[in-house]
Amino acid sequence: MAALAYGLPLNLPRWLAEHAHLLRPPVGNAQVWQNSDFMVTVVAGPNARTDFHDDPLEEFFYQFKGEASLILCDGCDYERVPLREGDLFLLPPHVRHSPQRPDPSSLCLVIERRRPVGQRDAFEWHCAHCGELLHRTALQLQSLVDDLPPAFQRFYALPECERQCLSCGHTHPGRDVAAWHQAYTQAGHP
Ligand SMILES: [Fe+2]
Repeated sequence: MAALAYGLPLNLPRWLAEHAHLLRPPVGNAQVWQNSDFMVTVVAGPNARTDFHDDPLEEFFYQFKGEASLILCDGCDYERVPLREGDLFLLPPHVRHSPQRPDPSSLCLVIERRRPVGQRDAFEWHCAHCGELLHRTALQLQSLVDDLPPAFQRFYALPECERQCLSCGHTHPGRDVAAWHQAYTQAGHP
């Protein structure tokens, strides 16, 4: 029956228990319904990243267990939005954001919309010292699982000279996520 194309209501604690094997590294997330207009995912910690996502549509966050944060980058200005347990947050379109989930027990419900053709996502990498944009890659996102790793690999494969900031000279450490965050903290960013 079309009315139940996505199944009967599911019990979230039971669903979490059934998908516990995905909600830990190296995957760390699972999509609740497939082929729906709302892409509903549960994202778990631990996870740290250095990319900034430019989503053409809104993103909804419900941090239902533990804590996380989003680093936002507006131009060259960094800001950090804490996601505390129980928090709801709605992110407007095109706000560059980098989710940080160091808490291994944290769980967040994230809802994004399927992207209409022509509405492209982008991923950016910024200088940890001064916030300058170093690299940007745009794509027509179809799968949250399959489309991201190739974009990340392309950035990691860049020669060091193309990861160097033209503004301040600092070199982005590429896939060394911890080194980027260390430089970010040393530069006094939140
Ligand atoms: Fe820089």
